[in-house]
Amino acid sequence: MKGIILAGGTGSRLFPLTKVTNKHLLPVYNKPMIFYPLQTLKDAGLKDIMIVSGKGHAGGFLELLGDGHDFGVHLSYGVQEQPGGIAQALGLAEDFADNQKIVVILGDNLLEDNIVNAVQAFEKQEQGAKVFLKKVENPKSFGVAEISGDKIVNIEEKPKAPKSDLAVIGVYMYDAQVFQVIKTLKPSARGELEVTDLNNYYVSQGTMTYEILNGAWGDGGESFDSLLKASNLAAEWTKSGKK
Ligand code: G1P
Repeated sequence: MKGIILAGGTGSRLFPLTKVTNKHLLPVYNKPMIFYPLQTLKDAGLKDIMIVSGKGHAGGFLELLGDGHDFGVHLSYGVQEQPGGIAQALGLAEDFADNQKIVVILGDNLLEDNIVNAVQAFEKQEQGAKVFLKKVENPKSFGVAEISGDKIVNIEEKPKAPKSDLAVIGVYMYDAQVFQVIKTLKPSARGELEVTDLNNYYVSQGTMTYEILNGAWGDGGESFDSLLKASNLAAEWTKSGKK
């Protein structure tokens, strides 16, 4: 299995912090934000990792992380020439993935939990995809899952009237068919290939599984307050020796 960190986009919700700096390089307490998703993948046993960033920022990631040996991982880099959505950025990792299953994490997602058990469960899953759900107070800001029994029946991206308070967090596991599915996606109203459309393909195929995330979760890039919350989480984890 291979790991992919998506760190593109313009970071417009954090402007002017992101005018010259990529969102995922911003400080979260005492570390650049991207250290957290990198550690999450490494702790899950993924050592071969690709970082997809935007044009103009790729050099910053290379300067910061190099080939990854300081972290005990091997890093590759991809460049999204124009912001075209999470699913479009993921499409750039097709050759890197080399027909293996992949674990994708958004570069602004901070997780308290070690996801190794879920990753190992997905390794055994015959086909399909797996996501994590987390109960949140502001579901309108995320992809939101509608659940029936142990199945996700639909996911809505930033719904005006959320059908649950379960956010689909920014960690996604896919089988090797994902790149073929991405090629069939159509741009959404905001002109992007949406990860939620990709996930709904697997939902409709009946091969989407999910796990509830127990520990704390922060999406550092959603708003100034979410960035502050991420910093506070990171400070708590650092001071208690958890991370
Ligand atoms: C993205 C996804 C959304 C998901 C969120 C998690 O939104 O589109 O479905 O819930 O990440 O961090 P973004 O934060 O990029 O707007």
